[in-house]
Amino acid sequence: MAYIKRMIIVALLMLTQATLLKAEDGQALWLRGNSNIKVTVSGPGHSPVVDLAIAELKRGWHGKPDMVLNLRISDNPAIKGDGFQLEESAISARTELGLLYGAYELLRSQYLGSPARRFVSNPSYSRRILNHWDNLDGSIERGYAGRSIFWGEKENGLSITEQDKEKWTAYARANASIGINGSVLNNVNASAKILSKPYLEKVRAIAERLRPYGIKTYLSVNFSSPVLIGKLKKADPLDPQVQQWWKDKVKEIYALIPDFGGFLVKANSEGQPGPQDYGRTHVDGANMMADALEPFGGIVMWRAFVYNPSPEDRTKQAYKEFLPLDGAFRKNVILQVKNGPLDFQPREPFSPLFGGMTKTPVMPEFQITQEYLGGSKQLVFLSTLWEECLNNDTFKNGKGSTVAACTDGSLSKTDFTAIAGVANIGNDVNWTGHTFAQANWYAFGRLAWNNKLESKVIAAEWIKQTFLDSKEKKTDAKFAKTVQGIMMESREAAVDYMMPLGLHHIFAEGHHYGPAPWFSNDKIRADWTSVYYHKADEQGIGFDRTRNGSDAVDQYHEPLSSKLNSLSTCPEIYLLWFHHVPWSYRLKSGNDLWTELCLRYDRGVNKVRSFQKDWDRMDGAIDKERFQEVQSKLRTQSRDAQIWKDACLLYFQQFSKREIPFDIERPVHDLQSLKELTKSRDYN
Ligand code: GCU
Repeated sequence: MAYIKRMIIVALLMLTQATLLKAEDGQALWLRGNSNIKVTVSGPGHSPVVDLAIAELKRGWHGKPDMVLNLRISDNPAIKGDGFQLEESAISARTELGLLYGAYELLRSQYLGSPARRFVSNPSYSRRILNHWDNLDGSIERGYAGRSIFWGEKENGLSITEQDKEKWTAYARANASIGINGSVLNNVNASAKILSKPYLEKVRAIAERLRPYGIKTYLSVNFSSPVLIGKLKKADPLDPQVQQWWKDKVKEIYALIPDFGGFLVKANSEGQPGPQDYGRTHVDGANMMADALEPFGGIVMWRAFVYNPSPEDRTKQAYKEFLPLDGAFRKNVILQVKNGPLDFQPREPFSPLFGGMTKTPVMPEFQITQEYLGGSKQLVFLSTLWEECLNNDTFKNGKGSTVAACTDGSLSKTDFTAIAGVANIGNDVNWTGHTFAQANWYAFGRLAWNNKLESKVIAAEWIKQTFLDSKEKKTDAKFAKTVQGIMMESREAAVDYMMPLGLHHIFAEGHHYGPAPWFSNDKIRADWTSVYYHKADEQGIGFDRTRNGSDAVDQYHEPLSSKLNSLSTCPEIYLLWFHHVPWSYRLKSGNDLWTELCLRYDRGVNKVRSFQKDWDRMDGAIDKERFQEVQSKLRTQSRDAQIWKDACLLYFQQFSKREIPFDIERPVHDLQSLKELTKSRDYN
């Protein structure tokens, strides 16, 4: 009998343990801070948004017990847009949404143990938007965390389950908690079907779930929609019938979704249709849509990611295309520009369009999903990459014209500002595939709210909320410090083992996960191959974008253009982006280029090994489930970093004809086997 009793107790204990562990499956993201501490909250009447703010404060209150907190609408001129003011016993804002953001900020600071103080916080950008590259069949372009949370024709047609709705609410809450206020629900490579009645009905249902959290819904649209789902013969933006088609469609959308945000458009880019198919310009296309949206307050986010198969350096093309159009766009058009002039590489200089456009608002597009940075297999904290981009000086209006200042309205004195991040969200239990990929979603929201926040602060916030409880234990400080260290170094490590010193786009074709510096193919356009970008030969390596080469440097303002143009002043992190450099060239370290390249690859691999060691030491500091998941992913990352190093060094050695320095670890693979491995579709 006693034995049976004991067994029951053991079983119960195991069950509780299992439930506890399950609670840490990552689903709660950074919102684990429920509390039992009582608070009384009074608000300015009732509305869905105000009620939410009150409910959140009650759920997560970590301040003094039994306090009375006041939410009030205020016309304090220091508060802008959906900003807010926090005081010990009050949150004031101009808008109800401001109260909700204030509530989340207050809860965050309580959980983090920061002392309550009076301060005002205003958003850097008025539109802070996630772009989902979700296809209507439920697959996600460059998605690494399962299938779409919005679409999935094959699974369920257009039906909507209770589970779907709960998911959308949880999604909206997570976004609102970090200040995100817009979602583009479908892929930029857009199916025209999204604008058909049944899909718009589903968009309406999603919008209903997102609305209380202040999240506006936007759609990516296919430029040929009037032909593909309308009955028109062409989509020429100057054709009155086409213009009318868009006007009618927009009217239909707003009848369903009165707070609809607008359109995101990828036109004449990578095979997508656009105005140039009819001999028209990007202005003609964007303005046609803008005119349809304007009466309803909608906007057009027109993407500048365009390049054609031409002898011109690919990285110069967007600037050349859009600069002459500056000033010709309607007031509700904003140009959406990727952070770099190429395509979300581990490191790129900033896009010259940020400093180039003077009359057209420009919004940065960052990639949260790790297309070129290890999918959901690798731990790479992207906040430092975005911080680097935002802090770059364009010299547009002289010194201090950072990318942040060029886009957040501080230089142009506009409040039509926006920022977008390509989402890394899917239906995986933990939303993002890798626990640490959640940090990139979090960081995007925090930077979109405040583009001056430092990555190390964002990392510290995220770690505490994601892993630790509000009362600090001895082990917590150590865990927080160690993990912050890993996160802060992780992007530089990835640059080192993938593409140091300004190398770029030497990825395996298609999956963009592993290396293939050897990739060349006469049958496809040159700028889709690796050899186009590194240009390695017996003399040296790198793309000459100086005034003697493609002259991309002159798309930047002085004094930056001359600084980049000269081999001796070009920052070494961009060396091979702008210069074709001899193997024997001496770098600041005193090493020749070949030696330095080898040392950087080796340093990158060693860094990941040190992340593994650091992480393993943290066993017991957090739940087993997430500990083991990260441990296992770091093993994969370590193996794959080695593959990068071996592939690149063995391949480039064929040109440099120099020894790999004898005091670094030797390659452990051979080139031929790596060529086979990374070609395989499964290697990603
Ligand atoms: C990259 C990416 C594509 C994507 C494109 C874009 O090229 O590989 O999948 O469609 O960017 O941003 O439009």
